[in-house]
Amino acid sequence: MKNIKKVVIPVAGHGTRSLPASKNVPKEMLPIYNKPVIHYVVDEAVSAGIHDVVFVTSKEKTALEDYFDHHYALEDVLERTGKSKLLKTVQELAHYVNVISVRQKCQLGFGHAVLTAKSVIGDEPFAVMVGDDILLGDHCGLPELIAVAEKENKPVIGVMEVDPSMVNKYGIVAGNKRPDGIIEITKMVEKPRIEEAPSNMAIIGRYVLPPEIFKYLENAKPGHGGEIQLTDALNLLAQERGMLAVPVKGRRFDAGDLLDFLSVNIYFALHDENMKDRIIRRLQKLLAEFEN
Ligand code: G1P
Repeated sequence: MKNIKKVVIPVAGHGTRSLPASKNVPKEMLPIYNKPVIHYVVDEAVSAGIHDVVFVTSKEKTALEDYFDHHYALEDVLERTGKSKLLKTVQELAHYVNVISVRQKCQLGFGHAVLTAKSVIGDEPFAVMVGDDILLGDHCGLPELIAVAEKENKPVIGVMEVDPSMVNKYGIVAGNKRPDGIIEITKMVEKPRIEEAPSNMAIIGRYVLPPEIFKYLENAKPGHGGEIQLTDALNLLAQERGMLAVPVKGRRFDAGDLLDFLSVNIYFALHDENMKDRIIRRLQKLLAEFEN
């Protein structure tokens, strides 16, 4: 589990949770503060030393590939109008990561999306990220997971404690907690009923996996929701070679959830020195109006 160079990010889905905003704009391109959602996710991969980004995509999602490419007409306008700072920002995006796209021609589930990247990944360990989950904090998420996977030579997934009433929205892990806080997984269940959940440790969308996962995905039967689930394949892989769950530090925002989406925008505004005072004043004004 060394030398992780590629991350697979499934992005073919319709983003129904974000409709109608995502009707003609991919949900991954919706802005959070001043950048699209996907930019934050790719930032985390880059901070883990990964520069090859495999989008498992569909025909409505070409905007994602375009975002990490040149836009010569725009660059030309920015150059002619002397907007050099913006020009630099736009040009840098074209060199930020190496995008590899694979089409998921029919969408049979999250596990199926990961399997679609098999020919690009080949025989190497790799990372998987869910494009909706934004993690904030120093060195949190994929960098932590990769460090553990390399050290322990085991597949690693990121988990976070969730409210017991929310377990039916996630893959849930059960296992033995070591003194360092890492969990040796014994079992995983995709979106269990609340009364059947083995714990409240939820899989967040971050995984470091060996190529053997493809063997299980190829043989996987439809699971929860009639879809090919990554969690079911992980469960079998965990029995074969063990798997660790790392409780991820930092904060997680689910960009597909309206409340999280609003909160993370405000979070960034509050953490931007040029905006902080103004957003606080604006929020105070809005609250005062609301209360009256
Ligand atoms: C997927 C996984 C699930 C995980 C979740 C994290 O579910 O199947 O195990 O907890 O991502 O975001 P989805 O959100 O695609 O339904």
